[in-house]
Amino acid sequence: MKITIIGSGYVGLTTGVCLSHLGHHVVCVDNDVEKIRLLKKGISPIYEPGLEELLKQGMEKGTLSFTDSIEEGTKHGLAIFICVGTPPREDGGADLSSIELVATRIAETMDEYKLIIEKSTVPVQTGLKLKTTIELNNKRGIEFDVASNPEFLREGSAIKDFLYPDRIVIGVENERAEKLMREIYEKIDAPFIVTNIQSAEIIKHASNSFLAMKISYINAVSMVCEKAGADVKEVALGMGLDHRIGKEFLNAGIGFGGFCFPKDLKAFIKISEDLGYHMNLLKEVLKINQEIREYFINKVRDLLWNIKGKKIAILGLSFKPNTDDIREAPSIYIIKHLLKEDAYISVYDPAAMKKMKRIFPDIDYKENPYDTLVDANALLILTEWEEFRNLDLERVKNLMKTPIIVDGRNIFEPEEMERLGFIYRGIGRA
Ligand code: UGA
Repeated sequence: MKITIIGSGYVGLTTGVCLSHLGHHVVCVDNDVEKIRLLKKGISPIYEPGLEELLKQGMEKGTLSFTDSIEEGTKHGLAIFICVGTPPREDGGADLSSIELVATRIAETMDEYKLIIEKSTVPVQTGLKLKTTIELNNKRGIEFDVASNPEFLREGSAIKDFLYPDRIVIGVENERAEKLMREIYEKIDAPFIVTNIQSAEIIKHASNSFLAMKISYINAVSMVCEKAGADVKEVALGMGLDHRIGKEFLNAGIGFGGFCFPKDLKAFIKISEDLGYHMNLLKEVLKINQEIREYFINKVRDLLWNIKGKKIAILGLSFKPNTDDIREAPSIYIIKHLLKEDAYISVYDPAAMKKMKRIFPDIDYKENPYDTLVDANALLILTEWEEFRNLDLERVKNLMKTPIIVDGRNIFEPEEMERLGFIYRGIGRA
């Protein structure tokens, strides 16, 4: 099928590249000329395992191309995915002006039937607004349908999540749109949930919020575990083996970050409020996410007594492993705090240092984990990169001034660390 993707960010680019991999003829559009220039050279502007390879393959096969012209994109696709950004506004709601702009341009340009699909994460009822906007600007009365097809991919495993999803959700208003949506995904083997547009939109809100709630829940439990002499890792396993609960997203740590959970939660709280329901449950989820970071800093303070003048090594800056994304990363909050208390900070991250330098140009960035540790008073682990699990711990201990480790992601076992001579604190582990 001829498909157009408007907005070549994380979701858009992954969608375009994967759909071309599945055999569709895809044109990706973006108004960022520099991004399009890179993409045309086969270079991915984002760090995502496997993406650049599929990008190059698609371009070589001739099933994937790029343009900065919405008009060109609209003419090409029978199906047009809208994947533009929906950044948060001051009040927590989502800024949907890019979607409106794109919808208007499509309506003005289309000259035959189009299926217009919202894939950006949007507040419920955006689909209806999208339809009204297109109707208003569709002066020539061209036929079209609108659909919602929320995306559940995660950064760092985006390609796998797209090609092997747990489910595909589509919200449609008629059989014509459903048939086309099924055709787009016919090569993907996954349960297909067909519902109305509003339900599809809420499935996305409710799924992300539920996952964030699971994380805050286990983080709240972790604080009790610590006080009670229990081990949250074992508690999570004991809970997670109940298939009604599930093991995933029960890793206690310093909380969730990234561009999705914090923003989506706030947007769901806001839209629920606008619709007349106060989602206090989700406000608490956000509050716990903040509390757990403060709890972590207090732990560092307890062990170091005075933070002022101490050398603190930090391993891990990205909001999670396998990405260079630092948006809403707990590391930003923690570094800010430590700097306020006049700590000397030395950091290493396999992918995110370039981005972090823009926020903290004056902290000490090192080329490898060991260089951060020379004469350090404490080591903080903020992201669970695989590389850190395989550290030579004897070497780590010998490099440090005092062998204190505060592990925000529970990558080591307390007993083993103590046996090796570290003063070690994880999260929720007595
Ligand atoms: C999340 C969802 O998982 C995707 O399904 C969704 O498509 C995406 O948002 C989106 O809306 O675009 P993502 O933000 O890439 O994906 O990252 P996750 O892997 O979900 O992790 C989010 C945060 O939760 C990370 O900071 C991670 O460290 C934290 N986390 C995750 C925990 O603290 N504990 C866990 O057990 C799991």
